[in-house]
Amino acid sequence: MKGVGLGELAAWRDDPVRFVRELFGVVPDAWQEEVLAAFPKAPRLAMKACKGPGKTAVEAWLAWNFLATRNDPKIAATSITSDNLFDNLWAEMAKWQQRSAYLREHFRWTRDRIVCRERPETWWMSARTWNRASDRTQQGSTLAGLHADNILFILDESGGIPDAVMATAEAALSSCVEGHIVQAGNPTHLEGPLYRACTSERRLWHVTEITADPDDKRRSTRVKADWAKEQIEKYGRDNPWVLVNVFGRFPPGSLNTLIGPDECRAAMLRVYRPEDIARAPRVLGVDVARFGDDASVIFPRQGLVALAPLKLRNADGMQGAGAVARRAADWKADAIFVDDTGGWGASWIDCLRTLGHAPIGIGFAARPNDPRYENKRTEMYFDAVQWIKNGGAIPDVPELVAALSQTTYSFRGDRLLLEPKEQVKARLGYSPDDADALALTFAQPVAGRQVYTDSAGMTYTLDEREPRYTGPARRFCITEYDPLEFD
Ligand SMILES: Nc1ncnc2c1ncn2[C@@H]1O[C@H](COP(=O)(O)OP(=O)(O)OP(=O)(O)O)[C@@H](O)[C@H]1O
Ligand SMILES: [Mg+2]
Repeated sequence: MKGVGLGELAAWRDDPVRFVRELFGVVPDAWQEEVLAAFPKAPRLAMKACKGPGKTAVEAWLAWNFLATRNDPKIAATSITSDNLFDNLWAEMAKWQQRSAYLREHFRWTRDRIVCRERPETWWMSARTWNRASDRTQQGSTLAGLHADNILFILDESGGIPDAVMATAEAALSSCVEGHIVQAGNPTHLEGPLYRACTSERRLWHVTEITADPDDKRRSTRVKADWAKEQIEKYGRDNPWVLVNVFGRFPPGSLNTLIGPDECRAAMLRVYRPEDIARAPRVLGVDVARFGDDASVIFPRQGLVALAPLKLRNADGMQGAGAVARRAADWKADAIFVDDTGGWGASWIDCLRTLGHAPIGIGFAARPNDPRYENKRTEMYFDAVQWIKNGGAIPDVPELVAALSQTTYSFRGDRLLLEPKEQVKARLGYSPDDADALALTFAQPVAGRQVYTDSAGMTYTLDEREPRYTGPARRFCITEYDPLEFD
């Protein structure tokens, strides 16, 4: 390449720390310097880290180092999702290229490739994505197609990547002149490439551990100490998300998601006839906004059907209670469950009582009915997700699908524990109010509605304003019903 002497390129090749200092004018943190220095000689680098210390930046620096200083290099990069890859690693690649006239001059971008202007066919970095639902063979082809002397594989967020995605990279490493695999992630799962690099294959990997522990002298200063302290105080040192996000340590059980987005989307397409759910109780779940920027949500559900929720912003107790009371009256709700965590819902509950309703306050941290769960919120979410898996129909609310499919759970001792609401909010960028409100409709089992069948076989509930049969009076009998049939 023109513009930089061969001597300089050779120096940068052997000394990636010098490369990032000279080309990007950046001072790497101590642990970043250690990873950069290890790169030229280490075929396998793993960064096992807390949230936010600067690991994706290191991957981008190494990718630029490899692109700038090897001949005809090929790089394949992947992450847990395609959005994640483009929002993080790809964004970092752009950020650091902007800092260097030399890199801007020699490399251009296509949609999913960064190529050398002079040799676009043979000198590139490519973005690879894979599908969680596809089989191992398909996942195994994610990183395929790198036949060259100089190859580099990058796996960002590798804590949640399945082993199959890594298989081709391992095989390619044995048939090149210089090959590297670099992976970085939060230790979220007790399986997959990051877990293997830190356990069964530890001797093959150069592993760097990065913590944000406020009591550790070597902690990453890029992560705010106040935030780390607050997380520890709020959730405890043994909380699985504190272990992963603050300490960069593996939790006692993987941080699994409750349900996939595809299952949620299938639930959005389900349709039931009114008579399918006529006997099921009508329940309102009410999630009350805790801070100025959250919405309050009123979610109606009857048996297998959750109807469109009503959202309120900046509603005070009486306005909120008024909206709930109107919905309850119009729809003839059988039960109203209101989030009463931390007292935020107290004024709504008081006002609803004044208006003649009988709301039931539910504390998210309260004891569950079933001791397998750590708290009430976990139990309600598990019930809601089970209901979807059993055929529940949900309305078309993208925020609901995002919250249900991105909330994780783990274990505390032998009890199931749901990720705290604030942490889901930090990830989604908004509070999971819709999911909380839907979950509240599962707070307690509500008795089913009585259904009457006339001698002609027609059924209707007592409170239906206009019975479907309008002929002479007939004798009715109460049919059998199972109150939990639809829950
Ligand atoms: N040594 C550094 N000097 C200046 N900026 C840096 C340095 N290291 C990282 N950054 C910047 O800090 C921000 C956070 O870094 P990065 O995204 O790499 O963190 P991460 O560990 O990958 O976070 P996450 O856990 O969210 O994936 C980015 O904007 C990155 O460019
Ligand atoms: Mg990152």
